[in-house]
Amino acid sequence: MSPDVDAIVKEALAVLAGIEDAVRLDQAKARYLGKSGALTQLLKGLSKLPAAERPAFGSRVNAAKEKLEAALEAQRARIEARKLEARLMEEALDVTLPGKGLGVGGIHPVTRTMERIEQLFRSMGFEVADGPEIETDYYNFTALNQPENHPARSMHDTFYLADGKHLLRTHTSPIQIRYLESHRPPVKIIAPGRVYRHDYDATHSPMFHQIEGLWLDEHITLADLKGVLIEFLGKFFERDDLKVRFRPSFFPFTEPSAEIDMSFGDGWLEMGGAGMVHPNVLRNMNVDSEKFQGFAFGLGPDRLTMLRYGINDLRLFYENDLRFLKQFN
Ligand code: PHE
Repeated sequence: MSPDVDAIVKEALAVLAGIEDAVRLDQAKARYLGKSGALTQLLKGLSKLPAAERPAFGSRVNAAKEKLEAALEAQRARIEARKLEARLMEEALDVTLPGKGLGVGGIHPVTRTMERIEQLFRSMGFEVADGPEIETDYYNFTALNQPENHPARSMHDTFYLADGKHLLRTHTSPIQIRYLESHRPPVKIIAPGRVYRHDYDATHSPMFHQIEGLWLDEHITLADLKGVLIEFLGKFFERDDLKVRFRPSFFPFTEPSAEIDMSFGDGWLEMGGAGMVHPNVLRNMNVDSEKFQGFAFGLGPDRLTMLRYGINDLRLFYENDLRFLKQFN
C-alpha cells in the first residue's frame, strides 16, 4: 500500500509545478485532495488494513496531504505573483510619452447663432424669456387662437405624448402666452428655444430652433415690426444692402400676417413668420386690446446659420460629425 502514497505525492507535485493558472490549480486540488481525490480514496481503504498497520498508514497519508496542501498554496502564491508582475509591466507608466492634452470643446454653430441673436436683440432693448419644450394643447394651440379642430393645426406635424394631454411644442409662440401670465404690457421679449415637428429633409429636421419675438405697447405698429426685423437682419449678416421682403401670409395668432424672406442668390429664402398680434390672442392674455397692440415674429436660427456660413444641408448640424463641427471653432 505504502508505495501508492509516495507515487501519488510524486505525481501530484510534478503536476502542480506545471500549472500556470488558478482554475486549473483548483481542478488539480480536487483531483488529489477532494472528496473523491486520490489521497482521500486511500484513507477510505484504511478499514481493510490489519489494525496494527492502520495508525502508521493513516499518518503517512495525512503527512502526504499536508505536503500537497503546502505545495498547492506555494504554487497559488507563485501564480498570483506572476499575474501581478505581468500587470505592473503592462500598466507601467512611461513618463517619457507626450501628454494627451486637454480635449477642449467648442460652441455648436447653431448655439453660436442663438447667442449672437440674443445679443443683438438685447442691444435693441428686448428681454430674453423661456418656456417648456413639453407643452399642453392649450398653450401651443388653443390660446394662440387655434381651437380644437381648427384647420390651421394641421399646418404643424405635431408629436403628441402618449398621455394624450401633452405635446412637443411645434413653435416658440406658446412662450408669449406664458410670459403674459406673469408680466403686464408693455412687454418686449424674445424667446429662443428648441421646437419639434414631424419633418425631415435638407431644410427640415424634426428638432429645430426658433426665436420668438413679442413687442406689446400702446403704439406699436407694422412699421415697427418691419423696422426691427430689417435692422436685426442687417446687423446679423453685417450688411446694409440686404433685401428683405414681407410676403402676405396667414397665421391664426396674427392679423395681418407676413412671411419674411431674404434675397439670396437669384431667389428669396424664408426666414420666419410675423404679424400683428391677433385681438383674440390679446384677450387670452388678458390684455386690453383697445389700449395695447403689437407684433410677434418667429425666426429660424438654423436657417440663419445656414445662410451665414453657406451650409446647404441643415441635418449636418445634428449629426455630431466633428469634422463638420470643428470648422466653427
Ligand atoms: N409660430 C409661427 C410658426 O412657427 C411663426 C410665427 C411667430 C408667426 C410669431 C407669426 C408670429 O410657424
